[in-house]
Amino acid sequence: MREGKKIIVFLLFLFITLLVYNQNIDAKDIDLSEEAQMCLGCHGKNNIKANFQNNESVAAYVDAEKFKASVHNFLTCSGCHDDFSIDKHPERRFRSKEQFKVVSSLVCQRCHKYEQIIANPPY
Ligand code: HEC
Ligand code: HEC
Ligand code: HEC
Repeated sequence: MREGKKIIVFLLFLFITLLVYNQNIDAKDIDLSEEAQMCLGCHGKNNIKANFQNNESVAAYVDAEKFKASVHNFLTCSGCHDDFSIDKHPERRFRSKEQFKVVSSLVCQRCHKYEQIIANPPY
């Protein structure tokens, strides 16, 4: 992967982290959709991991309170993870953590212009 791409992926990561930590007190009262509650039945528990072909893994834990407080709290999980639903959970294994992040981050561009997310390329 080229250096420029790595920086872009890192920036997206930073955005997500900012979203998650940018807590908005009022938003905490938002009710989770039926689907989100179902997903969190597993992903709200701390002991679950997503595994990749190269033996890397990431914690597959999603904090419901942080999600409710994020700018995207009006979305349900499948608003971004569109290949998932109440009765569909693809069984797949990405090659690596890196590949997983790159593929996952593409979803942002369905709603945001590339230029909007990458407003200030650091190079
Ligand atoms: C019965 C428990 C369970 C439920 C319910 C569940 N998941 Fe998962 N999910 C898992 C497990 C276990 C993994 C890790 C699989 C692995 O890598 O071995 C996972 C992995 C994932 C991943 C990362 C891997 C990938 O393929 O992208 C995402 C994203 C995900 N789940 C989203 C969701 C969403 C969205 C929902 C609700 C629509 C949901 N899950 C419901 C158990 C569950
Ligand atoms: C605004 C878009 C968006 C929404 C809404 C969203 N996700 Fe994600 N999710 C992502 C992205 C992007 C990643 C990849 C993050 C990374 O680079 O690791 C991800 C990663 C994950 C993972 C893999 C573990 C991890 O932390 O990387 C799981 C599991 C997951 N999401 C579940 C959920 C569940 C459950 C919901 C609903 C409560 C949800 N997501 C809502 C965009 C979203
Ligand atoms: C389904 C459409 C949708 C997807 C997918 C989506 N967003 Fe958003 N996002 C929105 C909307 C709508 C807002 C404005 C919310 C508000 O102002 O309350 C927003 C707000 C934001 C904001 C706050 C700044 C602003 O302009 O208000 C950031 C940063 C952001 N999104 C980044 C991302 C990233 C990074 C991803 C991929 C993980 C992503 N978004 C995926 C619809 C989406």
